[in-house]
Amino acid sequence: MKLFLVLLILLVTAAESASIPHVRRFLGHFAGSRLRNNAGAALHAAQYETRYFRQRLDHFSFAELPDFNQRYLVGNTAGLWTPPAPIFFYCGNEGDIEWFSENTGFVWEIAPSFSALVVFAEHRYYGLSMPFGSKEEAYKDAKSLSYLTTEQAIADFATLITDLKRNMSAEDSPVVLFGGSYGGMLAAWMRLKYPHIAIGALASSAPILQFENISPPESFYDIVSSDFKRESMNCFDVIKNSWDVLEAQGKYGDGLISLSGKFRLCKDLNNTEQLSDWLDSAYSYLAMVDYPYASSFLMPLPAYPIKEVCKKIDGFPDGTDILDRVFAGVSIYYNYTGSVDCFDLEDDPHGMSGWDWQACTEMVMPMSSRKESSMFPPYEFDYPAFADECIQSYGVRPRPTWVTTEFGGHDISTVLKKFGSNIIFSNGLLDPWSGGGVLQNISHSIIALVTKLGAHHIDLRSSTADDPKWLVELRETEIKLIKGWINDYYQDKAFTAYSIFPLFI
Ligand SMILES: *[C@@H]1O[C@H](CO)[C@@H](O)[C@H](O)[C@H]1NC(C)=O
Ligand SMILES: *[C@@H]1O[C@H](CO)[C@@H](O)[C@H](O)[C@H]1NC(C)=O
Ligand SMILES: *[C@@H]1O[C@H](CO)[C@@H](O)[C@H](O)[C@H]1NC(C)=O
Ligand SMILES: *[C@@H]1O[C@H](CO)[C@@H](O)[C@H](O)[C@H]1NC(C)=O
Repeated sequence: MKLFLVLLILLVTAAESASIPHVRRFLGHFAGSRLRNNAGAALHAAQYETRYFRQRLDHFSFAELPDFNQRYLVGNTAGLWTPPAPIFFYCGNEGDIEWFSENTGFVWEIAPSFSALVVFAEHRYYGLSMPFGSKEEAYKDAKSLSYLTTEQAIADFATLITDLKRNMSAEDSPVVLFGGSYGGMLAAWMRLKYPHIAIGALASSAPILQFENISPPESFYDIVSSDFKRESMNCFDVIKNSWDVLEAQGKYGDGLISLSGKFRLCKDLNNTEQLSDWLDSAYSYLAMVDYPYASSFLMPLPAYPIKEVCKKIDGFPDGTDILDRVFAGVSIYYNYTGSVDCFDLEDDPHGMSGWDWQACTEMVMPMSSRKESSMFPPYEFDYPAFADECIQSYGVRPRPTWVTTEFGGHDISTVLKKFGSNIIFSNGLLDPWSGGGVLQNISHSIIALVTKLGAHHIDLRSSTADDPKWLVELRETEIKLIKGWINDYYQDKAFTAYSIFPLFI
């Protein structure tokens, strides 16, 4: 079972992707570019211009190092923006920025009503924003990867915003940060670290508390499991019982070969763990994208995909082999369009290896699976074993307490009540990442918006005709709060100018 986190994109070698088990990524395999053909994508692509900014490799030293090109997308939607109208800045995640831009239509949709300029900045070491000229060089070793950190990424954003504003004489434009998932973590952290650069942040599905022992390590798998359980107890039980059956079958003489046939794999299995990981990923991602309408964020899927999976699993006559049920269920995830000839367990078009590095350095998010409540095989997060894997794969030892040292997290309510302002933490409780999210209001301007039926950053997605009422209301609340921040900012500026002015005459 993979227990790190998930995210996204680059071509990765099999050796890299196979090296760190027990990492749960935010988005994961199959996400992205090959699915980039929906109408929303074309719409937003027409709205922006792609630019590159010479970015400093190390913001925290004076060493002479090569610069790199950071990609960013700029859209003056409807041509309405002129300074000091606001700038909406999306903090790029661990993947191709165009793909995130396509899947966060909300930012594009609301920009015109704010006359806002929209900027989507790519995260270093992902997409086309590669230091050292190529992915191969950037990912070569621990030395070349050592500039892949959240602190550097946030400093990139701060530098880019400052330079962009100067170039456009937009110093007075307030900047609002947006981000979903890991990008949401970056948005929230950036608001706290760079309050002079951004006036507020909408951090959607941002598990900033999934570190150390702040949130229970079981929350991720417990939530996935309860998403299935709420559809059908039988479905939950079938999946829960399938792991032992799978492992037992793998032990027969030609068990791996017959499993490979049953699951229509392109290449024969070498062990059952590969298959378990593949199934684990399907269930976990299904929980993340259990949206109320058909979507193709990670994979093309029907509305409420977990319901469809369970319909399949439950739909067979009594006595049907448990693995046949499971296969039919996950085929909804991996083959909804019916166009897949065989399943390739190693298919990873988005190259998640960058996330594996981040998980092995700063982003250590402990995850366990508890026997009583989880439908996954029991697993206890074993930090020493995890650290050994990281040393083996990358030659680095993780720093599991660095994130909370740098950004906080422990006793966050007490800390942020007095210190922070203007952050929205939105979470949907179907989303397994919500277990590590901020789910309670901290102050009058650090607000938690929690929806019972929301999945992974659904609020940032484009609106659709099938949006349920709670989603429409959630977005309205977010817009109202953001308007409030911007109004406050303009009022404060005017007030300052007015009161200081007499001193200068
Ligand atoms: C600002 O202008 C300079 C000079 O033209 C350019 O090199 C730089 O890339 C611009 N910055 C941004 C963020 O576009
Ligand atoms: C099994 O191992 C072989 C040889 O290392 C490899 O080529 C093949 O891709 C592996 N199969 C799977 C499903 O990973
Ligand atoms: C995918 O679905 C189609 C249509 O149902 C089916 O013909 C095909 O065999 C499936 N592919 C796999 C690998 O199961
Ligand atoms: C936080 O406060 C807002 C109103 O400002 C409210 O809409 C929201 O439901 C509250 N969140 C929680 C989790 O109670």
